[in-house]
Amino acid sequence: MLETKPPSPGTAGAAGVAGGGYHRRWAAPLLASVLLSSLLIAASLFFSSSRALLLSFSPLPSAASAEPLFVEAKLRQQQQMRGAAASGGRGRGAVPRIAYLVSGSAGDGAALRRTLRALYHPSNMYVVHLDLEAPATERAELAAAVRADPVYSRFRNVKVVTRANLVTYRGPTMVANTLHAAAILLREGGEWDWFINLSASDYPLVTQDDLLYVLSDLPRQLNFIEHTSDIGWKEYQRAKPVIIDPGLYSLQKSDVFWITEKRSVPTAFKLFTGSAWMMLTHQFIEYCIWGWDNLPRTVLMYYANFLSSPEGYFHTVICNVPEFRNTTVNHDLHFISWDNPPKQHPHYLTLNDFDGMVNSNAPFARKFGREDPVLDKIDQELLGRQPDGFVAGGWMDLLNTTTVKGSFTVERVQDLRPGPGADRLKKLVTGLLTQEGFDDKHCL
Ligand SMILES: *[C@@H]1O[C@H](CO)[C@@H](O)[C@H](O)[C@H]1NC(C)=O
Ligand SMILES: *[C@@H]1O[C@H](CO)[C@@H](O)[C@H](O)[C@H]1NC(C)=O
Ligand SMILES: *[C@@H]1O[C@H](CO)[C@@H](O)[C@H](O)[C@H]1NC(C)=O
Repeated sequence: MLETKPPSPGTAGAAGVAGGGYHRRWAAPLLASVLLSSLLIAASLFFSSSRALLLSFSPLPSAASAEPLFVEAKLRQQQQMRGAAASGGRGRGAVPRIAYLVSGSAGDGAALRRTLRALYHPSNMYVVHLDLEAPATERAELAAAVRADPVYSRFRNVKVVTRANLVTYRGPTMVANTLHAAAILLREGGEWDWFINLSASDYPLVTQDDLLYVLSDLPRQLNFIEHTSDIGWKEYQRAKPVIIDPGLYSLQKSDVFWITEKRSVPTAFKLFTGSAWMMLTHQFIEYCIWGWDNLPRTVLMYYANFLSSPEGYFHTVICNVPEFRNTTVNHDLHFISWDNPPKQHPHYLTLNDFDGMVNSNAPFARKFGREDPVLDKIDQELLGRQPDGFVAGGWMDLLNTTTVKGSFTVERVQDLRPGPGADRLKKLVTGLLTQEGFDDKHCL
């Protein structure tokens, strides 16, 4: 601004008198403004750097001496601070909150609504997604049902993805869809602790009160993700072939296709594989979506050409970041019945699997046929849920004594109403965390 200001008649006159020539007349103001601006630049540089130093030292004085040189090294400090902040300062011992994605495709509308009902708790967050293969009417029906429900609309914690994604089975669009939901959940209700990705053919085996009760006791940085680096047959079937998912660029749904060229196994990072079902922490989701580290992005682009990327993307990212690998618990929290050897699809679970499901102590199971009678048995015997009703929980007692609109949290663990499901889940989780060599068995 100073530079463009015309010289005042006084100075111009004086310069004119002193120098006489045109160049001389401009020399003094020009020199002055150059001096002034370089002074300003120097000053601003000095102040901003000293402020940056002050800022980076002030939050964690103890870490000041180890001021990290690389951005990645700041992760751990950030994580510790976020860990407390994400749950609004409610650390271990407080009641956590869970963010769910429940997704489905054409014809899944009713099953999705049922799974949502069975999973519902007013302090959690839910994103429901019917992919583009589902007709617009089905998506509109789902949105209308959510809007019309007095409980969902009272707590406003169920979001329907209206601009749906085209999701190709086994394609990278599945991971893109999961990341999309995670991003919505970060924006909509930042104060959740864990993210769980389910489909319309999943169903819970414990109540949300059971789940929240058991999770209250856990460190908030544990990521439940089944994984291994022993990729075995997948090296030739998955890592080397290159696929293209038309869902990334086409409006019409069609299957993934293979190109003839093969690629070699990555050397820039190590591949991990495992179950597509997981429970991930807020910090890790933030790292994947908002992170400044480039690994989540490069690995995502790598997996764009990888068959069944949901079975590898998060596993490979989490195990290649030193700050996160020790947070992994090698379990997917699901009861899934595979053939031996496993085929592409698991068995549909029926009444015959009921005891197996209960004895697995897992909080979720898949995959269920629509309206299979075993779901009614789960409702009756495990969840205490009436058809189309909610699963009973401490929140119902709380609501009778207070009037809440909008966001709702259960503050105290004593206000939850855990049942036998909590005992089963506790057994599973304790077993996992006290396993021999737990500390040395991450990402092997
Ligand atoms: C997330 O959920 C969908 C279910 O619709 C599933 O197919 C997918 O593999 C899951 N996992 C990931 C990592 O996206
Ligand atoms: C993770 O655990 C291993 C084994 O206990 C340990 O050597 C390593 O330092 C830990 N890494 C981090 C980042 O804490
Ligand atoms: C809460 O109040 C409703 C009626 O307003 C009643 O039907 C229900 O039994 C009450 N629940 C509890 C747990 O007291």
